[in-house]
Amino acid sequence: MRTQVVIIGGGPSGLLLAQLLHGRGIDSIVLERRTRAHVLSRIRAGVLETGLLDLLEQADAGTRMRQEGMPHDGTLITYGDEAFRIDFAELTGKSVMVYGQTEVTRDLYAARDKTGGQSEFEVDEVQIEGADSDAPAVTYLQSGVRKRIACDFVAGCDGFHGISRKSIPGATQRSYEKVYPFGWLGILSETPPVSDELIYANSDRGFALCSMRNPTLSRYYIQCDAGDHIDNWSDDAFWTELKRRIPAEQAANLITGPSFEKSIAPLRSFVTEPMQWGRLFLCGDAAHIVPPTGAKGLNTAASDVHYLFSALTRWYQHNDADAVAQYSQRALARVWKAERFSWWFSKLMHRFPHHSGFDLRMQRAEIEFLRSNEAAQKAMAENYVGLPYEG
Ligand code: FAD
Ligand code: DHB
Repeated sequence: MRTQVVIIGGGPSGLLLAQLLHGRGIDSIVLERRTRAHVLSRIRAGVLETGLLDLLEQADAGTRMRQEGMPHDGTLITYGDEAFRIDFAELTGKSVMVYGQTEVTRDLYAARDKTGGQSEFEVDEVQIEGADSDAPAVTYLQSGVRKRIACDFVAGCDGFHGISRKSIPGATQRSYEKVYPFGWLGILSETPPVSDELIYANSDRGFALCSMRNPTLSRYYIQCDAGDHIDNWSDDAFWTELKRRIPAEQAANLITGPSFEKSIAPLRSFVTEPMQWGRLFLCGDAAHIVPPTGAKGLNTAASDVHYLFSALTRWYQHNDADAVAQYSQRALARVWKAERFSWWFSKLMHRFPHHSGFDLRMQRAEIEFLRSNEAAQKAMAENYVGLPYEG
């Protein structure tokens, strides 16, 4: 087989890239390790920046998001029983869209079906050959048969545990990592959200987040121990703990019900540099991870896709090799800013086991500064709605 771009990974990064390339007449084949149903069953991110919304429109996968997504002009920050609002619309002229990653992926697969793009599922033992040559190829096993696709470029969109990053020789890579000493326990429940806007809550008992997917579906998270397990958390225990971490006014309005998804995610900051090796390019979680506070994971994956799409378009349409050579540098400039914001917001909102009395006072002083200072709120809002794609 032959195609122009082999895309490893059929998550949001891989599919978005495939559909954007299709719009410019550039062929690709998507290789996904799991079944399509499995990919669509993952519950992950929920807040989309304008940059991602525009890319979804360009990929012809934005119609349902525009109809069903919920634009949010601000968010509540609470500490104990105190609360204040960051008004994104007033501070930046922009808002964010609440629309689940599961729906984004569903819409991208529907767009791929419509255009007849090739996606292969349940592929195993994916290997990249000759990424440092002008003629790379990708081989894989499917139903016991080894297959080979010759291509011009390989896009590694296979997430944190994928093979793309590991295919780059160690001597040419440098990785940076911070593991946080806690996780997030998250649930979905068919109950109306406690508030029209998201609530990021700092409390003496740890962080909590009240989010949503639609007017009848809520998504809630609480900070938990790194080694905790979902079996330790009945629904009752979850709701009781959540109520203790949000202000009494919101706790009184919280409507509880059975959860139908419960999972624990670890918190990690991670970046690998550079994000390319020869003709292999890393996109999204394959190259970097952020702690979820601030919802930058999916959005940063999308900005990588923007830079790679624009570089590949310039290669095929204008014979421009420079753009491809500069992909990593361009993508990383924005990645590090998203890393900084997620790290800052995580530090501001969580209880760390090593916190001293002084550390706690500093955290509270910083929250109170944010509450009272418009410049600080503007900086927060600009990062939350998404920094511009530059270059
Ligand atoms: P992924 O979504 O990981 O997709 C990679 C795809 O590659 C997967 O489908 C995988 O099956 C496939 N794959 C892996 N290895 C191979 C291989 N060898 N061959 C072929 N295919 C392969 N972000 C937020 O902003 N907010 C959140 O609340 C949030 N919650 C999260 C919860 C969890 C449990 C996780 C893991 C992430 C969460 N994120 C969140 C981050 C966000 O979901 C990711 O940033 C986003 O999914 C990145 O998209 P991606 O396409 O780069 O990677
Ligand atoms: C969601 C997750 C986040 O990490 C965040 O900051 C906001 C919302 C969510 O899953 O809805």
